[in-house]
Amino acid sequence: MSPDSGRHEFASDNTAAICPEAWEALKEANAGCAPSYGDDRWTARVRDRVREIFESDCDVYFVFNGTAANALALAQICQSFHGVICHEHAHIQTDECGAPEFFTKGSKLLLIGGPDGKIEIGQAEAVVARQNEPHSHKPRAISIAQATEFGTVYTRNDIAVIAGFARTRELFLHIDGARFANAIASLNCAPKAITWEVGVDVLCFGGTKNGTAAGELVIFFNKEISREFDYRVKQAGQLGSKMRFLAAPWLGLVTNDVWLRNARHANDKARHLADRLRNEAKIDIVFPVDANAVFARMNERLVRDLRARGWDFYKFVEPDVYRLMCSWSTTEAAISDLITDVLSLND
Ligand SMILES: Cc1ncc(COP(=O)(O)O)c(C=O)c1O
Repeated sequence: MSPDSGRHEFASDNTAAICPEAWEALKEANAGCAPSYGDDRWTARVRDRVREIFESDCDVYFVFNGTAANALALAQICQSFHGVICHEHAHIQTDECGAPEFFTKGSKLLLIGGPDGKIEIGQAEAVVARQNEPHSHKPRAISIAQATEFGTVYTRNDIAVIAGFARTRELFLHIDGARFANAIASLNCAPKAITWEVGVDVLCFGGTKNGTAAGELVIFFNKEISREFDYRVKQAGQLGSKMRFLAAPWLGLVTNDVWLRNARHANDKARHLADRLRNEAKIDIVFPVDANAVFARMNERLVRDLRARGWDFYKFVEPDVYRLMCSWSTTEAAISDLITDVLSLND
């Protein structure tokens, strides 16, 4: 089977196309000449709109992808001898090829556990308490993903507790928000309620999984730590010269709350997919479906046969838990096709 054939709808939320509003905004920006390196009007408008959405005079930067956003945000906070407390299944630990350690020039990720992909605050306390000054990395930040890598969502209170702990220990709080839109859609709250209002210092806000082709925002609510971040972005090769083409699709997302509509659609479809897998195919769904991911326990034979029919998806937890992801473009028809195949193969 060639890579282009088959069904990629549930493999990830980055298999989706650019959403229509982002595409239109990109087309609109594709005329004439405009200032480069972010001095264009699209970039300015996105920054203003983001400040409106967050009800905050925050600093907003563009980078090309989520790995760079996380790594550079953490590098802004940490020196080489610092540590970042995060979940053992955090994307920064499992899927960024050491970029946080590389860009911080040696900071260490201090791994802790916790159910459903969320950090357990007692374990964070234990890490700080056992610090052996000056022989081990000094905890400097806590990083959480919202939504988490397991498709769950921290409540406002969860984040307030983590932020409260961080404050008392002089730790910064970073959010990997590759799916921040899905978290807001899930909690149905104001973005400020789970960020600066509760003490989040820096948020990496993802656009790629929400409907752009590329481009993530690094948003500093704590402006004391954003100083000279523009130099860091440039040095890391993350400053787009034709920035308007990163910004314009973002403008499509943040205008008329398309970002929220896209996220709500993805979340609704994930819940629906989970319900059908559970009720019709009797498949175990292993984490709460708070956002747009469904983690399903499937046996080896079913997985092999689904793949033989072209379905593309990944194993996330050994030995038998697979992730099925929904996006702004997931259709009812795709869900029905998958369920039909699961039912016929389960017979
Ligand atoms: C939780 C999380 N953070 C960050 C990212 C961003 O990664 P990328 O560098 O591929 O844009 C992803 C992408 O899968 C993710 O799932």
